[in-house]
Amino acid sequence: MRTADRLTKIPPYLFMTLRNKINEARARGVDVISLAIGDPVDPTPQRVIDRLCEAAQDPANHRYPTDEEWGMLAFREAVARWYGRRLGVTLDPRKEVVALIGSKEGCHHFALGVIDPGDLVLVTDPGYPGYRPSIWFAGAEPYAVPMREANNYLVDFSEIPSDVAKRARAFYLNYPNNPTGAVATRAFLDDLAAFARDNDIVVCYDNPYAELVFGVERLSFLAATGAREVGVELNSLSKPYNMTGWRIGMACGNPDVVKAIATSKANTDSGVFNAVQYAGIEALDHCDDFIGHMIEVYRRRREKTLAVLSDLGWPGEAPPGTFYLWVRVPEGYTSATFCEFLFERCAVVAAPGAAYGQFGEGYVRFSLTVEDARLDEALQRMRGQLPRQKF
Ligand SMILES: Cc1ncc(COP(=O)(O)O)c(C=O)c1O
Repeated sequence: MRTADRLTKIPPYLFMTLRNKINEARARGVDVISLAIGDPVDPTPQRVIDRLCEAAQDPANHRYPTDEEWGMLAFREAVARWYGRRLGVTLDPRKEVVALIGSKEGCHHFALGVIDPGDLVLVTDPGYPGYRPSIWFAGAEPYAVPMREANNYLVDFSEIPSDVAKRARAFYLNYPNNPTGAVATRAFLDDLAAFARDNDIVVCYDNPYAELVFGVERLSFLAATGAREVGVELNSLSKPYNMTGWRIGMACGNPDVVKAIATSKANTDSGVFNAVQYAGIEALDHCDDFIGHMIEVYRRRREKTLAVLSDLGWPGEAPPGTFYLWVRVPEGYTSATFCEFLFERCAVVAAPGAAYGQFGEGYVRFSLTVEDARLDEALQRMRGQLPRQKF
């Protein structure tokens, strides 16, 4: 069967490849512990589950959720309340918010709604692997903008050649950052908005880890000066409320871009199940304490992981954001060979940095989204199996 040429550009999805490897090993009886994917095992808040069950009983919610094409107004209003309360941003729920089936699909509809074939689109390197396929599906080409440890993984705009900046149509980036755990500053977000304005670039600021910060302030790109003129922010209930499987998020900001995303969506899917939107309202309005609880869970997991990594010789520190640890590999390894070593010696899976781009080489990412007991077991194996190394 002949399929589209564009598929030839798309590499196998990292986590599918890892999942196959894990499944094969488990089938051989190996007790594999995956610290690779950022998919929390901790449960969704009970009141959110209860709200879903209740809303699922109502036949009105069994129909296409298309009465309100941009998602239920009640959900969009809850998003606006949440943005106001948690991120200090005022949003018009009628013009500046559209419900999404997760921020991953927002990346895709942003591409289809904003980018034309042949365009150049900036993406960070290392970067979330979901961006490039969306750009290719839109017939455009990604341009890798380095994020360097020496600059706290913040993009240095002076590293983007001016002819590239002038040609670029859009820019995908995210802070708190997957994979590095870096966070933005207010000054950086102002610079980003100014860079986009000066070069006529539309920003797709992906912020699903906005809530997952340790000792620094929560930030939205939309709070930056001029941000709403140049772009949108994608957000999601997946990570703060342990709702990755529920598939609910939002795109907010520039009304023209929000409308472009909504138009692409309206012609692709029929929106988020209303019962899930009701559950989403429950999370957004009533679960601030739950987020505080999860931050403490991740703080504890970070501390114990760091204690082991430091015993193994790693000189680094925990990053200010996300539930990931981005760790330089020991001397003599590449990101792939160190992951292989961890897998063979400890049956522990980490994500190789090179899968996030050429500037990710030399690092691996650990996700702290496993149960404490499994993390303890993984750390015990690492402590027992890995000699102290020079990083
Ligand atoms: C930076 C980034 N954007 C988007 C997503 C997808 O999130 P969602 O579940 O909201 O689609 C992820 C998931 O890991 C992510 O790390």
